[in-house]
Amino acid sequence: MAAPNSHRTDDWWRDAVIYQVYPRSFADGDGDGTGDLAGVRARLPYLAELGVDAVWFTPWYLSPLVDGGYDVADYRTIDPAFGTLAEAEKLIAEARELGIRVIVDIVPNHVSDQHAWFRAALAAGPGSPERERFHFRPGRGEHGELPPNDWPSQFSGATWTRVEDGEWYLHLFTPEQPDLNWAHPEVRREHEDVLRFWFERGVAGVRIDSAALLAKDPALADFVEGVDPHPYIDQDELHDIYRSWRAIADTYQGVFVGEVWLPDSERFARYLRPDELHTAFNFSFLSCPWEADRLRRTIDDTLAEHAPVGAPATWVLCNHDVTRTVTRYGRADTGFDFATKAFGTPTDLRLGTRRARAAALLTLVLPGSVYVYQGEELGLPEAEIPLDRIEDPMHARSEGVDPGRDGCRVPLPWAAEAPWYGFGSESEPWLPQPRDWARYAVDRQRTDPESMLALYRTALALRRAEPGFGDGPMTWLPAEEGVLALARPEGLVCVVNLAPWPATLPPYDRILLASGPLDAEGRLPQDTAVWLRVGGVL
Ligand code: GLC
Repeated sequence: MAAPNSHRTDDWWRDAVIYQVYPRSFADGDGDGTGDLAGVRARLPYLAELGVDAVWFTPWYLSPLVDGGYDVADYRTIDPAFGTLAEAEKLIAEARELGIRVIVDIVPNHVSDQHAWFRAALAAGPGSPERERFHFRPGRGEHGELPPNDWPSQFSGATWTRVEDGEWYLHLFTPEQPDLNWAHPEVRREHEDVLRFWFERGVAGVRIDSAALLAKDPALADFVEGVDPHPYIDQDELHDIYRSWRAIADTYQGVFVGEVWLPDSERFARYLRPDELHTAFNFSFLSCPWEADRLRRTIDDTLAEHAPVGAPATWVLCNHDVTRTVTRYGRADTGFDFATKAFGTPTDLRLGTRRARAAALLTLVLPGSVYVYQGEELGLPEAEIPLDRIEDPMHARSEGVDPGRDGCRVPLPWAAEAPWYGFGSESEPWLPQPRDWARYAVDRQRTDPESMLALYRTALALRRAEPGFGDGPMTWLPAEEGVLALARPEGLVCVVNLAPWPATLPPYDRILLASGPLDAEGRLPQDTAVWLRVGGVL
């Protein structure tokens, strides 16, 4: 059957379903306990069967893995733990054969302290051209013993580190991730080359890490709360950088997705102007609590902020940085906020899973593209990692207050009965898998029509085959309090009930899919969603 949606056109990114692979934890091909490209290649049929249009790989480049690969030592080399460049090229080609596009992750704000440029900068000393590619400064105080400014870190802890000769360098994240100086022409040129390097290798898109942080106030002035502009978030110079990137992407029909966390929707939309980034992650949706009014407002705001620039919205429920969806929705506070993450938060996983199933149908019916983070299709919960096994620097930098992000990065369970749930073979995975994960294993879920995997597969297949999904208009239908009802083209309707009592469905021709059973009277129970085909056309 021919797909009525635009999945196979140049505009594929306007309504694609993009699966996020965290290579270290997806599948372990060589059995050493760390996921790798061989593992991904072996599981490409799984992704094809799931029905995704593209895969975004978090960084797979040479890296000391201090921040899970977001500390890149060389963009043109695959980390040996993951494989080789030749394998990456094969993977890109094999994925394309299966109709899956590849998106790579570029981290322009910083490099690893093991990157050749930073090593050269340390060796060359103060005042050298090598140091100009970074932000090296003398300290304040009588003996330069105080950091050059008071900028807050993105990861708690210090943003400046002093080197042996007395100078300090800026790092918005860990000391192993020195920030690049984006006012330097070589920094710009190098990244333009890196983009070409990966587009030449057939990638369809690039995710831009920390996209709103690159440019810094040249004076490196102290941070004053509430005073605009912020010295390192959302500086105007960024737009010029992304315009030049867009010109490169256009020559390869490549697309961008920016990691842009900005509360101001007008400022956010500037990044999505027609000559800048194609898309950006929707963090307001990802952070939104499971409440009908809040969700509706977030959806409206999202569509309103994207409309003037003609960019499609993206819909994201989780990623490798945030609490897994079934866990978040099973807590008293169903929103997400880095500041409130804590150990020991009571969680009702049954409730969270029920809501996550409904949320999946809501997300997949909205206009735009959708991101699915590996394991989300299995309904994996956030894992509790024993303290001595936590690797994420967010944990240590918060002095142990923040549990860190490893709980959503645990290696996937593929086979219920196999060692390490079939993630690898010989060695224990780099992060421990919880003991009760057999029930989440792919092979168990594959044969269970009630499973999360079955729901995702059916939903993605319908989204591809049936008219009305993806890019295009959406209107709200009248609904009882606590109920979201929306109409897409061709009589496609989605109803989500967040109210504590069953909701009456509008008249319909057929049910395409429901996240759970209707009640005996044909009403939609609480925390359940349904896709309907109705007679009237939008
Ligand atoms: C982004 C990444 C995150 C990383 C940080 C620093 O927020 O998603 O995982 O730690 O950038 O590169």
